[in-house]
Amino acid sequence: MPPPIPTTDQSVSLLALKAMLRDRTVLSALEVFNHQLGDIFQITLPGFKPVMLAGPEAARFVLVTSRDDLRWRSEGDPVTALLRHGVLVEDGDLHDWLRRSMNPALHKSMMAKYVETMRCAIDRVCRDWQDGDIRDMLVEMRRAALLILMETLFKVDFAPEMRRLWQPILKSIQFISPGLWVLWPDTPRPGYTAALRRLNQYLYQMIAARRAAPGEPDDLLGVLIATPGMTDDLIRDQLLTMLIAGHDTSTALLSWSLYLLGKHPAAMQRARAEVDTVLGSAAPSMETLPDLLFLDRVLHEVLRLYPPIHLGSRRAAVDLEFQGYTIPAGTRVMYSIYLTHRQPAYWPDPKGFDPERFTPENSRSRQPYTYLPFGGGPRNCIGALFGQVETRVVLARVLQQFDLVLTRDHVHAHMGATLEPRPGVFMRVRRRQ
Ligand code: HEM
Repeated sequence: MPPPIPTTDQSVSLLALKAMLRDRTVLSALEVFNHQLGDIFQITLPGFKPVMLAGPEAARFVLVTSRDDLRWRSEGDPVTALLRHGVLVEDGDLHDWLRRSMNPALHKSMMAKYVETMRCAIDRVCRDWQDGDIRDMLVEMRRAALLILMETLFKVDFAPEMRRLWQPILKSIQFISPGLWVLWPDTPRPGYTAALRRLNQYLYQMIAARRAAPGEPDDLLGVLIATPGMTDDLIRDQLLTMLIAGHDTSTALLSWSLYLLGKHPAAMQRARAEVDTVLGSAAPSMETLPDLLFLDRVLHEVLRLYPPIHLGSRRAAVDLEFQGYTIPAGTRVMYSIYLTHRQPAYWPDPKGFDPERFTPENSRSRQPYTYLPFGGGPRNCIGALFGQVETRVVLARVLQQFDLVLTRDHVHAHMGATLEPRPGVFMRVRRRQ
């Protein structure tokens, strides 16, 4: 008989509760479980008994060695209900075909064209900032990320629709965020239908307009339309997948970055000085972005501390073995990027913000699968390059033009569809002379 998977007892639960109340996030409870129980443990709530995995060995197990026995799609989950047959919730041949079809639109060769659109979008957002304004960067960065995603990948100007579709987009994110449905999956969830209808209408109209005038397939929508066998329903599913996965993540990364730079004025100064030296007043480009070395380290460190996708969720298709334990077929398996990024065995002073961890010298000896903000294996993030270019362009442009000071010191990590700084990142903005 294999040993039972470690689970929480009363004393561990009490420690976890204390940590959770102290930090106002469930993540701190998971840190206690990981520390007390090891890299495999089971949560045993009524109706919700996932096996949690953390650390590099677990990441390799989920992403590489056992990946064919772990399914991404979980029927009945809200994310499947929302995205239907989106690449994120498909497995096997359908997944591979969808991914292959979309790859060209996210290829490195497309980035030079996208950079200019990204720059225009953040400049448009910043144009509304008046000297002395206090702006919530969680909102501002979402505006930028939405403009960028829609204009680069779908070739539409989203500005005229922003106000009308803001709530439907937030509603659909809320629909897939953890909530009571996790414990009681059959709980009715009213209040989402109208929002989803509006979003669907918008996407189907966009598809019809492009079918009527296809033009060059030099964006994601064009590529999908040009793919034989791609129906309107399948295209809608990919567009909504990319819209949610592609903007909510960048929003989180950008707002955490501004928060942490606000908390560490010396790092803010250094990043700004670097931007001044490398770019002067010129727009960032694919040639100059690689010279923003310090900004690059800052973003790596932000991704380590607050990975927007902090958890990968799967379902075991067969019985699996990990570290001598059996995970029965049908079990929900979750690998935690957040916990892996904070294990003291691999990250000294894991809670500290230290971009210098990511200098080439300090990165050289890093063990594989200890740092995986974009996942890993064949189903790593399809938008990893896009997201990295986008966040560098946006931050460089903001630092180039504005002084920013945090006006509210404290945020907590909120588990929505991504990990968000809540209640928001409030900063006073002043245009630089
Ligand atoms: C900027 C920050 C981003 C981060 C930190 C991030 C993170 C991740 C992670 C960790 C995964 C794998 C999840 C797992 O193993 O369960 C993933 C997958 C994915 N990401 Fe991203 N992502 C980002 C940006 C984007 C962008 C910009 C797009 C689209 C334009 C995108 C689209 C996707 C899709 C479609 C998948 C599923 C891929 C597949 O299953 O084949 N992401 N992302």
